[in-house]
Amino acid sequence: MTKDNNDMHADLNKSTCCACSQANENNVTDNKRRSILKYLAASIPAANLLTGNTALAAMKKKSPESKLPPQVGDRLTYFNKRLRGPKLTISDLEISDKQTLVVPIDPNTGEVRDGSRYNQILLQKLSIEHLSEDTQKISTHGIVAYTAICTHNGCPVTGWVKDEENYMCPCHQSVFDPKNGGSVVSGPAARNLPALPLTEENGELVVAAEFNSWIGFGKPPK
Ligand code: FES
Repeated sequence: MTKDNNDMHADLNKSTCCACSQANENNVTDNKRRSILKYLAASIPAANLLTGNTALAAMKKKSPESKLPPQVGDRLTYFNKRLRGPKLTISDLEISDKQTLVVPIDPNTGEVRDGSRYNQILLQKLSIEHLSEDTQKISTHGIVAYTAICTHNGCPVTGWVKDEENYMCPCHQSVFDPKNGGSVVSGPAARNLPALPLTEENGELVVAAEFNSWIGFGKPPK
C-alpha cells in the first residue's frame, strides 16, 4: 500500500467514523427525546397530584381565626371565592335579589372566616315595611342575615320562594320566613333559622351581635 493509499484509507476511515459518530449522535438525540417525553408523561399526573395535595393541605391549614363564629364588628364578604374581596355595603344589595351566601371577614386582619360551614350566612335586602317589628330590630336598612344551615338536617337553605318572600331548604322543603325572624312556615324543620343581627358603619354591613340561637340541626345541646 502506498503512502497515498494509506492516507486515503485513513481519510476513508476518518470519514466512516464521522458518519458513525453522526449516526450515534442522532441515536443519542432520539433516545434523549424519548426519555424527555417519557419523563413528561410520567411527571404530569404527579404534578397534578401534587397540586391537589397542596390544595388539600392548604384547606386543612385553615387558621383557628377562620373557624371562629361571626364576631361583633366583623364585616361580610361573598362566600363565592371568585367574588371575594370587597366588604359588602348596603348598596351592594337590591330588594329584588334572592338571598346571597356570604361569610364573615375580620376587619382588622382581612381574615375570611370560612373555616367552618357553620359560618355560611344568608344575606338579603327586603322591604322594611314587610319586616316584623322584631326583625327590623336585628336588621339594617331592610337587610337581614340568617344562618345558611337548615335546622332540620343541616342542608344549605338555598331555595327562594319569590311570591311569599320565603326561604326553602331543597333537601326536605322546609320553609322559613326571613321577614319574621326566620320562623318555620312549614316543616319538617322544627326550629327557626338563627338570625345574625346586623348594623352599619360608613355604609359597610357589620355584625352587631352573635347568632340569636344555636347553629346546628336536630336538638340543641342542653
Ligand atoms: S335538611 Fe332542610 S328540610 Fe331537611
